Amino acid sequence: MKRYINTLLVFVMVLTLVLTNIGCARQQEETPEETPEEVPQRPLGEVPAPEDMILEAAHWQEEYPMIYESFLRTSRMGDNTVEDSTLGGLHPVDYLEKYPNIKILYDGIGFSKEYFVARGHYYSLEDVINTARPKPGASCLACKTADYEKLFVEHGQDLFTLDFHETVQGIENAISCYNCHRNEPGENIQVTAPHLTVGLTKLQQEPSPGTMACAQCHVEYYFDPETREVVLPWDNGIGIEEIEAYFDERDFYDWKHPRTGTPLIKVQHPEFEMYTGSVHDRMGISCADCHMPTVEEEGETYTSHWAKSPLKTVEESCGRCHTDTEAIIAETEEIQREIDAMQVEVSGMIVQLIEDFATALDERNLDEDTVEKLWDLHRKAQYRWDFVMVENSTGFHHAAKAREALEQAKDFAQQALDILAEQQ
Ligand code: HEC
Ligand code: HEC
Ligand code: HEC
Ligand code: HEC
Repeated sequence: MKRYINTLLVFVMVLTLVLTNIGCARQQEETPEETPEEVPQRPLGEVPAPEDMILEAAHWQEEYPMIYESFLRTSRMGDNTVEDSTLGGLHPVDYLEKYPNIKILYDGIGFSKEYFVARGHYYSLEDVINTARPKPGASCLACKTADYEKLFVEHGQDLFTLDFHETVQGIENAISCYNCHRNEPGENIQVTAPHLTVGLTKLQQEPSPGTMACAQCHVEYYFDPETREVVLPWDNGIGIEEIEAYFDERDFYDWKHPRTGTPLIKVQHPEFEMYTGSVHDRMGISCADCHMPTVEEEGETYTSHWAKSPLKTVEESCGRCHTDTEAIIAETEEIQREIDAMQVEVSGMIVQLIEDFATALDERNLDEDTVEKLWDLHRKAQYRWDFVMVENSTGFHHAAKAREALEQAKDFAQQALDILAEQQ
């Protein structure tokens, strides 16, 4: 098995070199007419006029029946055979019950009052409308509906501050084919999210199409405090510390913890950033390769558009490299259990930090320097914990990165606890 993987690794490395070369050639290409057949066009595509945008997924049902049907499975309705056990599913899982510590860690923001596990793409619009968490403006729709680019073309920068509830009135489509293909499914992936179009200019390397499609939404972002624009904080790079540095440089915080006053960062869903640099990424595997594998049904082969846990299609998603599917599921779950346990441990330490810090603020005269130092340590610890907590693979996408972030979080939390212990 090991030897098989080694041979394969060499093969993939060679392949990656070839692909990287194509990538470079692509970027130097000035005149698209001369692009050789096998080199894909830059996948940003042309924006159609608003009235020509095909925003309903159902439009493509006849032309791509199997893809359309698989896409509808992101609803998982009426298909009991695909319901999974503990790893997500049709019924919203309540994180607050599962991880009570987050009520204290997220105290002061909506996530401490309501936090359900993400559901399929089919529900994206419904779920953002129904969440009890406050919505600062129409920017919240950026990753929830096929209509977003249309709104952006129609309103320009004004879109970001439009009232959420008024804007959503006119919208009927959840995520659809348009989000990743515009009017040309079957052609290259096209980027429709305005924030990723900007974000790509900050990346040193363009992700592969099957990753770029997802990086439109499965990323860390924040709203510019003034314009409410969705911004990807990638100016320094997409590493955990580089993103932190971006926020630090701007003295940015999402909220101040009500018990300690710590200016904190709320991480969103950094799947793309976490995944980048992992074993699988370095082999050139895209998000879609695992989450939307090529499948065979009724004698036909097609790209499954049922974006879901790859553990439900292990044969198709992993089987070409990992031949022992049971073993690889077990290994994956082992990583997840380990990271989850670490996450819970670190969250407990930060809860302790918050309690002790709040008590110290109430009962003792902490000098300004000490308070500053404690704020800094709390912010650093909680940011790293959150990065792993809200990344949706429970560490699988890049176990080493997740582990390191949690180790650091632990270390920062411990330093704060030590300072607080000295103060007593
Ligand atoms: C979340 C992004 C996303 C959405 C939404 C999406 N696709 Fe795709 N689609 C992809 C990716 C990724 C690929 C694989 C392309 C690649 O890796 O270069 C693909 C490939 C395809 C292909 C070519 C491959 C094949 O099997 O024939 C077709 C056709 C297609 N999609 C149609 C559709 C249709 C129709 C819809 C809506 C029902 C849709 N797509 C929605 C991301 C998406
Ligand atoms: C336009 C934004 C957007 C794009 C593009 C997008 N996603 Fe999502 N994705 C979401 C949102 C929003 C949710 C959560 C929906 C909810 O909870 O209602 C989600 C949820 C998911 C889930 C969880 C589903 C479940 O059943 O628990 C998976 C898996 C997923 N996306 C994978 C992908 C992959 C892989 C790609 C790229 C091929 C992709 N997504 C592209 C916005 C997007
Ligand atoms: C090597 C295969 C692989 C690649 C590549 C991959 N993932 Fe995953 N992903 C997984 C596995 C395994 C899980 C854990 C699924 C589970 O716990 O059921 C997961 C979980 C997820 C989830 C949560 C799914 C759920 O049902 O709760 C999302 C969302 C997601 N990945 C998005 C992405 C995005 C976006 C990318 C690319 C940046 C990506 N993945 C790349 C294998 C992969
Ligand atoms: C294109 C080949 C390929 C595909 C597809 C692939 N893997 Fe891997 N995977 C590898 C290689 C190579 C390694 C590194 C092997 C080693 O270190 O022994 C690896 C390592 C792993 C590891 C060890 C932990 C780690 O992160 O290093 C796990 C777990 C794993 N893969 C799970 C999966 C799952 C689950 C899927 C499908 C959802 C998948 N892989 C798809 C090639 C692949």
